[in-house]
Amino acid sequence: MPAAPDLRLAASLDQPGLKAWLQETDPASLNELWACADAVRRAQVGDEVHLRGLIEVSSHCIRHCLYCGLRAPSEGLERYRMNAGEILECAREAVRLGYGSVVLQGGEDPGLTQDFITEVVRAIKRDTPLAVTLSLGERSDADLQAWREAGADRYLLRFETSDPVLYRRIHPSLPGTLSDRFAQLARMRDMGYEIGTGVMVGIPGQTWDTLAGDILRFREFDMDMIGVGPFLPSPRTPLGRPEAEAFFAPPEAQVPNDELTTLKVVALTRLVCPEANIPSTTALATLDRAQGRELALMRGANVVMPNVTPVSYRARYEIYPGKACINETALACQGCLEGRIRSLGRSLAKGPGGRLKADCKN
Ligand code: 5AD
Ligand code: FES
Repeated sequence: MPAAPDLRLAASLDQPGLKAWLQETDPASLNELWACADAVRRAQVGDEVHLRGLIEVSSHCIRHCLYCGLRAPSEGLERYRMNAGEILECAREAVRLGYGSVVLQGGEDPGLTQDFITEVVRAIKRDTPLAVTLSLGERSDADLQAWREAGADRYLLRFETSDPVLYRRIHPSLPGTLSDRFAQLARMRDMGYEIGTGVMVGIPGQTWDTLAGDILRFREFDMDMIGVGPFLPSPRTPLGRPEAEAFFAPPEAQVPNDELTTLKVVALTRLVCPEANIPSTTALATLDRAQGRELALMRGANVVMPNVTPVSYRARYEIYPGKACINETALACQGCLEGRIRSLGRSLAKGPGGRLKADCKN
């Protein structure tokens, strides 16, 4: 029988401790980390895996993020914006497939007006039992408040990096705006949203120190949902072209954008935020199609976000190339994922699947 995992590991995770774990290469030590993350996941959020239907509502974007294929200057992309009827039909499909929530995700698109999203959220809440998560970038408090009042339950906004200098380098600001995602996350929490965030692993310029700091931020903000995936270079973007060289940290400091490091971040995130909902991300599945989804679920994750966007739009939502599941229908993905989840001895959750808070916290 395997030895019981040493749960004291979880208590020693300060900045140097996290950095050391991120750089750990000893297989026995890593097995201890995986076992500990899996035990904490089971004890805190159980064996059920929550499925959230992902609806990619718009590929228009006004921002110039240096890593994202949907950035405004990307050429040759056929942009689309779904209409309300199409979005509602995807939500109904999510209900038919047994999912408890949907995530409406898009670029930062002013064409998704406050009124439009308000109406869509209202309709989904009126016609379905789904929880609704929004992931529409940096928006005004007025928009966020209106959507909350319409019934939106959760909002995802990754802060991408806690290093302010790197943040500014990879997110050229729009004229007259100051980007402060931590402030937006805090305001959304005050509005009553469950809040989700996350980072990419291995973005050029990301160091071991800042990645350890990112994980501490998850804990400091007591995030409800935390998504982490590898950075996947897109040739449509500056960070996917040779000019990216200038961004890299020295080799000993630069975090690689590989599967092992991503899995370490997933496991450590589970340890510092035991109650959080943590997805096994599509970016990781893209890096390792054979077993990326499963490995994350075995090392801390408890959520999967199957794509329910109509196949005709999927390929056009090209954040990075080669995205997993681009041609599979929602039904095919559901069957595939269900098989993968059951093969791990885990079960599918029913219902909206909000964050479970321990009652004994003082
Ligand atoms: N590689 C991996 N993830 C990416 N994202 C954006 N561009 C990339 C990329 N090139 C992630 C960002 C964003 C989320 C929707 O997708 O973290 O918040
Ligand atoms: Fe989409 Fe497996 S999850 S095909």
